[in-house]
Amino acid sequence: MHVAVIFDSTMGRTRAMAQAICEGARSEGRECELIEAASYQNLEDVCAVAVGSSTRIKKPLPAVREVLSSMTSLSGLAAASFGSYGWSGEAPEIIADILRSKGARIIQDEPLRAKDYPGEEKLDECRALGRRLAKECTH
Ligand SMILES: Cc1cc2nc3c(=O)[nH]c(=O)nc-3n(C[C@H](O)[C@H](O)[C@H](O)COP(=O)(O)O)c2cc1C
Repeated sequence: MHVAVIFDSTMGRTRAMAQAICEGARSEGRECELIEAASYQNLEDVCAVAVGSSTRIKKPLPAVREVLSSMTSLSGLAAASFGSYGWSGEAPEIIADILRSKGARIIQDEPLRAKDYPGEEKLDECRALGRRLAKECTH
């Protein structure tokens, strides 16, 4: 069972967050799969998932919206959302709402957002999120 981090990113900012989340999960000894939304297939053998997108015209990027709409019941799966933004940053909250509506258990008080490129402090928050996701995995 592994952690999956699914994301899309236009300029690499949300990608940097996704990479740091996986780094954190791996630091707990858990395998972490970094998945570009356009290559997503399914959630087989996944014990926790993070889904991220930057905000484009107040929404997640299209490939992430497609991933979310293809997901069926997430029945209690530990989940989190994240993303970089420029000014309003709606995407991570929209992602969390959709994950919740499919039965996922969101493990964050609020989505992890970074304005523009995530700085080192923000990347540390991403690593901490990855460690938390890994700890949700019990087998
Ligand atoms: C066409 C376009 C539309 C955007 N719309 C929004 C928006 O509605 N709200 C916002 O906060 N940022 C918006 N942004 C800014 C991006 O979310 C921001 O540049 C982000 O850091 C990009 O991260 P990424 O490299 O992971 O894609 C927009 C950027 C572009 C190019």
